Amino acid sequence: MNKKKPKLVVLTGAGISAESGIATFRDAGGLWEGYKIEDVATLEAWNKNPSLVQNFYNERRVSVINAQPNGAHLELVKLELDFEVHIVTQNVDDLHERAGSKNILHLHGEIMKSRSTANENLTYELTNSFINMGDKCALGSQLRPHIVWFGEAVPMIDNAAKQVSEADILVVIGTSLQVYPAAGLLHYFSPQKPLFLVDPNPQITARANLTIIEKNAVEGMKELSRLLKDFKVWN
Ligand code: OAD
Repeated sequence: MNKKKPKLVVLTGAGISAESGIATFRDAGGLWEGYKIEDVATLEAWNKNPSLVQNFYNERRVSVINAQPNGAHLELVKLELDFEVHIVTQNVDDLHERAGSKNILHLHGEIMKSRSTANENLTYELTNSFINMGDKCALGSQLRPHIVWFGEAVPMIDNAAKQVSEADILVVIGTSLQVYPAAGLLHYFSPQKPLFLVDPNPQITARANLTIIEKNAVEGMKELSRLLKDFKVWN
């Protein structure tokens, strides 16, 4: 008999890419220690000093291009054998795509794309690290990074909330859950269904349905896969 696979929704943050060499934001030595959000990650910053903002994301793009998916990204691909896996990521890197995951929703944009400043729906794949001032879209407007900046709307949030509300299992990996509306997605998940958190420094209030795997993503994902084998058996 062909049984429907349980729906496994995975909310990922910077921690899943840390072991690929991409800096997180709020850990010691994280990006927001070296930069002020209001200088590089808001529309006001862009309007005030677009070159500075452009350079900040050009540097981030170099580190993404030089990184490779790690064991945690790959473990999520393997889970597709037994689960209908949907990834909701706050990350702007493309490591889930390069690992081979099928269903990926980027809440905060994608660094390997540029976007028109005249029409937010006009995006382009980038083939190298740089967007330069003077690079224009087809409408003749300056290109900016395809990133959701602080204070901007998060167009994918309703879609993400729907995924979470339909999940049989929710897995949260490597996010400090400090940034809304992404952090609020947990409220859309049934408190009766299993919730897993993989994070070496978990910041979450205890709840009955929660299993915390207090490990880095690569090791933690191996453990999660073992635990999910049991879930498959119970089902
Ligand atoms: P944070 O830097 O806020 O949190 C990173 C999380 O990853 C923390 O909970 C760490 O404990 C955990 N972590 C660190 N190393 C890890 C490892 N090896 N394995 C697993 N977990 C590890 O990053 P996010 O929560 O993703 O938004 O940040 C959310 C948003 O804030 C980002 O998308 C970005 C940022 O400002 C925008 O720029 C709009």
